[in-house]
Amino acid sequence: MNYEKIMTEIKSVREFKKQAVDSNLLSLIIKETEQIDSINNSDVKLSVIEDGEKFFNDYDGKIGYFGKLIKAPKYILIFGKNDENTKFKAGYMTEWMRFRLHDNDLGSCWISATAGVDYSETFNINADETLIACIGLGYEYGGVFKKNTDKKAERKGPVEFVYDNEFCNLITWEKLSQMGLEEVFYLTKFAPSWGNKQPWSFIVAEKEVYLVMEKTGEGDLDLETGIIALYFIKAAEAKGIKINMKAFDIADGIKVPDTQEIKIKFYF
Ligand SMILES: Cc1cc2nc3c(=O)[nH]c(=O)nc-3n(C[C@H](O)[C@H](O)[C@H](O)COP(=O)(O)O)c2cc1C
Repeated sequence: MNYEKIMTEIKSVREFKKQAVDSNLLSLIIKETEQIDSINNSDVKLSVIEDGEKFFNDYDGKIGYFGKLIKAPKYILIFGKNDENTKFKAGYMTEWMRFRLHDNDLGSCWISATAGVDYSETFNINADETLIACIGLGYEYGGVFKKNTDKKAERKGPVEFVYDNEFCNLITWEKLSQMGLEEVFYLTKFAPSWGNKQPWSFIVAEKEVYLVMEKTGEGDLDLETGIIALYFIKAAEAKGIKINMKAFDIADGIKVPDTQEIKIKFYF
């Protein structure tokens, strides 16, 4: 996949044509998603809802921003344990799956599960599992002019969310380009987030980059950590930089305010 192209193009699609989506294509994409990269993906379960109309009628009012479900020809539900590692993997995998769908001309939109709801009674899952999120997908409806010209939602620029060694010490373009990271962060900024809040920032140290997430109380930070990690890793790879990472429990002496949390240490 051409990650650079996809990251700049992909956007949330919320209106779909009636055109059918090939079930075999979806099964193939799910199989690929279950095997991406070296993370152990088996804790995340992806389930296709073939009858989108029935699902919409059953769950509108219960899933999505303020219970508003997006009408889509098909859905993919993402289940797993309600812990940080599983939700991280779910975010990483699901956004990768959206890339693959986009690569096959299929539009999609994240749809939030509602925090605190016990989904084990609604869906056929184990008691310790939950609905982590869901996506709606299909061919984008372009309106009467056949082509949707809606732009992607705006994002903060890299020099607004990348810090130099210390939290809140904004980095300069010059420093970013000296480090060869300016294009990596240019692409990373396109990651989607709940309500487009962009709750992330990065602290660039000598050989490490720390991902810091703002505890906004909205959205699911562990899920969103997986999404932003995918963008950073794939953007770096696209620029020829191989990244390693350690997720969670980072105690490296880097200080952030109580409203923030260091979620990942990336190193080169
Ligand atoms: C974890 C997550 C949950 C989201 N939940 C919803 C949702 O329930 N309903 C919705 O319309 N959009 C949802 N979105 C889409 C965001 O609003 C969207 O990604 C953001 O506004 C940026 O717009 P873009 O994706 O078009 O670039 C969600 C996005 C993420 C990452």
